[in-house]
Amino acid sequence: MESLERTRKRINEIDREMAKLWCERMNAVREVTEYKKKMNMPVLDAAREASLLEKNLSYIPEELRDYYVEFQRGVVGVSKTYQRGEIDREPNIIPLFLGDRSYDILVRRGSLSAAGSYMNIDRKVLVVTDDGVPAEYAETVSKQCGSPVIVTLPQGERTKCFESFRTLLLKMLDSGFTRKDCVVAVGGGVIGDLAGFAAAAYMRGIDFYNIPTTTLSQIDSSIGGKVAIDLEGYKNTVGAFWQPKFVLIDPDVLKTLDDRQVSAGLAEAVKMSLCFDGKLFDMFEHGGCDIDEIIRRSLMIKKSVVEKDETENSLRKVLNFGHTIGHGIETAENGRLIHGECVALGMLPMCSFDVRARLKKVLESLKLPTKITADPAKVKLAYSHDKKFEGSGVSIVKVNEPGEFEIEKLTFSELDRLFDKYLEDEQ
Ligand SMILES: NC(=O)c1ccc[n+]([C@@H]2O[C@H](COP(=O)([O-])OP(=O)(O)OC[C@H]3O[C@@H](n4cnc5c(N)ncnc54)[C@H](O)[C@@H]3O)[C@@H](O)[C@H]2O)c1
Repeated sequence: MESLERTRKRINEIDREMAKLWCERMNAVREVTEYKKKMNMPVLDAAREASLLEKNLSYIPEELRDYYVEFQRGVVGVSKTYQRGEIDREPNIIPLFLGDRSYDILVRRGSLSAAGSYMNIDRKVLVVTDDGVPAEYAETVSKQCGSPVIVTLPQGERTKCFESFRTLLLKMLDSGFTRKDCVVAVGGGVIGDLAGFAAAAYMRGIDFYNIPTTTLSQIDSSIGGKVAIDLEGYKNTVGAFWQPKFVLIDPDVLKTLDDRQVSAGLAEAVKMSLCFDGKLFDMFEHGGCDIDEIIRRSLMIKKSVVEKDETENSLRKVLNFGHTIGHGIETAENGRLIHGECVALGMLPMCSFDVRARLKKVLESLKLPTKITADPAKVKLAYSHDKKFEGSGVSIVKVNEPGEFEIEKLTFSELDRLFDKYLEDEQ
């Protein structure tokens, strides 16, 4: 009897390993599916199936081969059913592959009113928004939730703070939220970062869904899992990597966003085009793409960066292009300029002379600023203060040709000289 139990235990362990391996296999199948979809290839590849079976049979003892054929047919069958389902699926979905943290991003006009068919919100849901986001957006989402609790915070960067974080956690606690419940952000980057961090922390992490409503958040901040709050004036000092379960992007909601915010968000798309996608930059230069296309292309860039470097150890740092001097300008301007406008200005000193001239024209066409008017001393003080946690120097990204980047490690005085030289050139 004891030996039966031991054997069963061993079978349980083997099954657990097989379950893990099966998940790994399905992740690989997901990648193959994406490729087949892109190349318009059929699901069935009979020759590959046959050769796979033949190869695997060579590892199987003679007496088990018939059973193995059945087993392998089952495995391949499930994978084909999955592939067919995926290929027939919504064409507006961009999958982001991160193993068991993988998720889909939907970009479709009008999708806000169908949120419930994409996200598992037929349960207790904390819907977080701010008072600058039209209330109807959070209400539309709430109507599709099983048991919604809406929290509307004041708009603006100041909301990304410890007090708001505490408010959200207490609201969940008071409303009896358990680990089975979830958080949905309906707002810009401020709400996404804050609500995502509350989801990451509550009961060691509950499901999070993001519904970004600004250009910046639709283009950039809603994907990739960086969630955070600011602490004592230090931006994003306390946070986590907590991937959403689904991101729903409805470009229709941008119709209520003011023009300045729309342009500021586009600065992040220009940033991505300069570093990774010369064709997108070309479109900006020649006016050849609409907002939906810009959102999609930017998401494709960010997705591929995040898939390679989820926790920002190397490549993902490139997405901070323009942000070092940009953040310095943001602080020195003390609220006169918004984030995207400062990123626009912060990119200029980091480009070659030729690219700088081209970038200026693009920024002008997007009604973004092109001249730094902040006090240079204040900018320098702010960026060195900002980057002090990185040690004695700072890694900066330079662009000499649209679509290509270089990373350089500079000391603070070298960065000051680069900035001074830029200001001199501009006089
Ligand atoms: N997590 C990341 O990877 C990441 C990346 C980039 C930026 N960020 C963060 O994002 C934040 C900035 O995000 P943002 O630019 O979206 O700012 P935001 O969230 O402050 O939104 C800007 C303004 O637009 C209003 N608004 C939002 N949606 C609206 C709509 N559809 N119609 C009308 N008004 C609307 C808001 O009320 C707010 O007043 C910063 O805190 C930044 O640090 C995070």
